[in-house]
Amino acid sequence: MSQVTEYSEKVMDHFSNPRNVGQIEDASGVGTVGNAKCGDIMRMYLDIDDDQIVRDAKFKTFGCGAAIATSSMATELVKGKSVTEALKVTNKAVMEALDGLPPIKVHCSLLAEQAIHAALWDWAEKNGVTIEGLDPPVNDIDETEEFYKTPG
Ligand code: FES
Repeated sequence: MSQVTEYSEKVMDHFSNPRNVGQIEDASGVGTVGNAKCGDIMRMYLDIDDDQIVRDAKFKTFGCGAAIATSSMATELVKGKSVTEALKVTNKAVMEALDGLPPIKVHCSLLAEQAIHAALWDWAEKNGVTIEGLDPPVNDIDETEEFYKTPG
């Protein structure tokens, strides 16, 4: 992927019109991650059926434009995938789907990957399942964060 210096049209589209914003009641898995440096926070909700397919994904992100665009694209990419396929939705895959991100914004896409992993981990723990290649989330955020008390 060639280096980009500004937001692509796809990034702007997903930032201005993010898909799958919100939360899933009684989600199968929920993952919350944050970036200590910029203070941005992302929460991912996954609805996973008995066949281990991600039926729905929603997110809430308190963060920059790139964080919102990558969350939006990440939810689109994991929907319909098996949990093992969803694990392969890396930040690189999300960035590629968005036609790239400026180098200074690459860390934002990591939040999306970490949020997916954290939500998968939550689901796996609740169901006594092991997903090969999935590590415990490193960056779980206190659920009482003020941000999550606001509707939307
Ligand atoms: Fe923090 Fe983008 S600047 S996630």
